[in-house]
Amino acid sequence: MTVLSDQLHLHPDQLGAYWMPFTSNRHFKAAPRMLASADGMYYKTDDGKTLLDGFAGLWCCHAGHNRKPIVEAIQKQAATLDFCSPFQFAHPLAFELANRIIDIAPDNMQNVFFCNSGSEAVDTALKIALAWHRIRGEASRTRLIGRERGYHGVGFGGISVGGMLPNRKMFGNMLYGVDHLQSTHNLKENAYSDGLPEWGAHLADELERLVALHDASTIAAVIVEPMAGSTGVLFPPKGYLQRLREITKKHGILLIFDEVITGYGRLGGAFAANVFGVEPDMITFAKGVTSGTVPMGGVICSAEIHDAFMTGPQGAVELFHGYTYSAHPLACAAGIATLQLYKDEQLFERAAKMAPVLAKAVNGLKGTKHVIDLRAFGLVAAIELESRPGAVGARAFEAFLKAYEKGVIVRSAADNIVISPAFIIEEKHIDQIVSTLRDVLMALD
Ligand SMILES: Cc1ncc(COP(=O)(O)O)c(C=O)c1O
Repeated sequence: MTVLSDQLHLHPDQLGAYWMPFTSNRHFKAAPRMLASADGMYYKTDDGKTLLDGFAGLWCCHAGHNRKPIVEAIQKQAATLDFCSPFQFAHPLAFELANRIIDIAPDNMQNVFFCNSGSEAVDTALKIALAWHRIRGEASRTRLIGRERGYHGVGFGGISVGGMLPNRKMFGNMLYGVDHLQSTHNLKENAYSDGLPEWGAHLADELERLVALHDASTIAAVIVEPMAGSTGVLFPPKGYLQRLREITKKHGILLIFDEVITGYGRLGGAFAANVFGVEPDMITFAKGVTSGTVPMGGVICSAEIHDAFMTGPQGAVELFHGYTYSAHPLACAAGIATLQLYKDEQLFERAAKMAPVLAKAVNGLKGTKHVIDLRAFGLVAAIELESRPGAVGARAFEAFLKAYEKGVIVRSAADNIVISPAFIIEEKHIDQIVSTLRDVLMALD
């Protein structure tokens, strides 16, 4: 089949109109990395080069690329019901997908609100938290607490609770009444941890300090990524998330896990909440729910949250929130086919099985030039490099470019090189990724 991208041979002067997100546009357009097709673990560029995808697209294609059952489900759905207003209408697939998500979510989770991205999921969860306190008569609980080095997408809610300087500094004061816990990343205490760091559970106690400062009656919710992904794969210290749960519960504060990256198997269980045995009040998700094929995000919440809204007069809208494309039929079809594929091929179990293989290979880079830490847990790993003076991120970005030239896609995040592959990865792929990175690092200034 000829696809549109096969027919396009773009000239450099045709690259101007598209303003690329989170990309150095001028650098990219001078030497584009143009992907034309994909299959399993591999991409093909527009000039026919094969690339091993060590990053599952962008933390999302958990089942690998262009998997037939998902592709066919999307095609069929597009020809059956292209669109359905999610306001005052619905289609069966939305309910089916919600039920399937609840089946694999932690026990206390009972309802799913759909949107289209991780950013929308985060802002939705924050709004639900504020509204929930209000309808229960605690309208003074408006403060939101995030964490330094957290990434929660790019909406105003997400950047407000997020803790990434470049994503915040250009955009004014954002939401007021937001505070942050400190990051758990500490190389002095935790460098080369084998698995989860031993040190740092006590950092959750900082929430007590914020409660003492602001009073619990002003705090609506705490949001954290169970594993901070975008700032370089920072795993929670042993006991940290449990402690955060205890403290939030004690003070009537909602706990939101942002599982846009960790959801749908990345850490070897359906959600990080399952893996760590901690039940938050809400979980945000996106990416892996459709294995990256059709945009979709959502919020899973406990019955306690959902049921509190189901009280007003019959016929009244309970939550004034939603998106034109909430529960889009194509996304729901993709989601159902994806969850079925995860089940049929036992892909979460496979992620768990391949985790020690990835960890062993990555930990073998200890002592390689520039490396100052190695982190691995589940099917995700990071190689932290010493930064060049005054140029944080430059070395890892160069490593990303050089690995690409050698046919391997990884991602750079500050001075971390991140590996987060599809769960169908085999040992030979891991070997190729890690040996390519070793060569790249040895040749790098
Ligand atoms: C933890 C987390 N939350 C939210 C987002 C935002 O998702 P999206 O880019 O789909 O808006 C991301 C994206 O990587 C993420 O990693």
